[in-house]
Amino acid sequence: AGAGAGAGPRLGVRRGAGAGPGSGGRSPRRGSRSGAGAGPRVSESRLGVRLIAVSPAPTPPLLPSPGSRSQNVRQLYALVCETQRYSAVLDSVIHSAGLLQAEKKLKPNLAKVLVYELLLGRGLRGGGRWKPVLSRHKARLQAEFARLKVKRCVSRNEDLLESVPGAAQVAKLPRFVRVNTLKTKLDDAVDYLKREGYSYQGRASGLDELQALEGKRFFLDSLLPELLVFPSGTDFHKHPLYQAGHLILQDKASCLPATLLAPPPGSHVIDACAAPGNKTSHLAALLKNQGKIFAFDLDAGRLATMATLLTRAGVSCCEIANKDFLSVSPSDPRYCQVQYILLDPSCSGSGMASRQLEEPGAGSSSQERLQALAGFQRRALSHALSFPALQRLVYSTCSVCQEENEDVVRDVLQQIEGTFRLVHVLPPWPERGLRTFPGAEHCLRASPETTLTGGFFVAVLERAGGSSGSEPQSLAEEPAPNIAPKKKKRRPKPLTT
Ligand SMILES: C[S@@+](CC[C@H](N)C(=O)[O-])C[C@H]1O[C@@H](n2cnc3c(N)ncnc32)[C@H](O)[C@@H]1O
Repeated sequence: AGAGAGAGPRLGVRRGAGAGPGSGGRSPRRGSRSGAGAGPRVSESRLGVRLIAVSPAPTPPLLPSPGSRSQNVRQLYALVCETQRYSAVLDSVIHSAGLLQAEKKLKPNLAKVLVYELLLGRGLRGGGRWKPVLSRHKARLQAEFARLKVKRCVSRNEDLLESVPGAAQVAKLPRFVRVNTLKTKLDDAVDYLKREGYSYQGRASGLDELQALEGKRFFLDSLLPELLVFPSGTDFHKHPLYQAGHLILQDKASCLPATLLAPPPGSHVIDACAAPGNKTSHLAALLKNQGKIFAFDLDAGRLATMATLLTRAGVSCCEIANKDFLSVSPSDPRYCQVQYILLDPSCSGSGMASRQLEEPGAGSSSQERLQALAGFQRRALSHALSFPALQRLVYSTCSVCQEENEDVVRDVLQQIEGTFRLVHVLPPWPERGLRTFPGAEHCLRASPETTLTGGFFVAVLERAGGSSGSEPQSLAEEPAPNIAPKKKKRRPKPLTT
């Protein structure tokens, strides 16, 4: 399983520049893991992006800087992981004990680590000037912790995790692995895994089979092509097929956008908010690297990570630009053949598994933030729909909030007055859009409970009266009735947020 030297994305990357932590969106901050604590500056060039300089980026406060000689790196890592695992429990105890109200200068994340050590760890060993402060609140914190256990009818600390609403479901979700057809074939990947002792069960007949997966058994997903399904907890990060880019670790819900956009080989596609690029590499696989993907993102650090991932995945048809998608001109001749757009904008991330482990309310976005995100999402969607040759667009978020999903689609469809319509995709998909407007059920929703995935939303829009000629054969679909108001007024409805 060699990495394959094939041509990578069209990038002028000066090697040695580490990827810095991303700043926008809600996707995993892979850059921060691989980077050497330095954020590359990215400049636009004719070829996409070019990394031109490295500037220092702040190191996350609780982690040792990369290369640290601290003796306690392992302990520190374990402390951070455990604190994160108990995050919802700690939030609840800190809140009921009124710790942050009493100690206004204590930062919430630091409070969480200190309270973890105090209540669940080996007692407060560090803590510096906060140690005596925490000691003052110790009795109250312990009492609230005990009260929480009584309330949740558990005696062991571990059981508190199980008792968090949704946590059990999230913990049991199967692991989805996309076979990267730019680098290998489905059959070859399956054979390789079988030789390693995995037991292939063929195509799953439904979600029940996926939920019951155990040991080394694995399935082909019942709906999406080239998607393998393993028992929860299966970890492929160190697997040679993953490291060589033959397998992509991608949730099933996150495979929906490219699958449903279905650009045929040779077409021109825009990936409007692309980094870190899992959906871009999926698009490239569908294009068989024939045609062109114009990938944009505002965040240079995430784009640097994306360049590495795309190279590893063998993507050679992608031009990456560090650019605000809203500033990309639809009349630019470079995009005159763009018939497909994937728009996966920054969102609250309220559907992500890690967020669902938090207490209800603790991780929910404030109304103000939601409105700001929804404002951007509306602008991005209506901008995308103004590309003259566009035939088909997929709008997706990993949010479960109606404000960022059905409301955005409804408002923009009304604004564009019938030029695009929603397409009813993937009829067997069990969870549909919230019925907040006629046609919303044509959208897809995903959730741990219903689809065994993270929370997600997808809408597919197609130019009315046009044909992209790209209907995915296996994923039957039909155009939905137009929900736009009858053409009376010429002026578009203002997009208030
Ligand atoms: C949800 S993430 C995209 C994930 C990506 N599609 C994938 O599958 O890997 C949203 C991305 O939008 C980017 N973004 C936010 N505002 C943007 C803008 N105005 N133009 C381009 N990218 C933007 C963020 O930097 C972030 O990387």
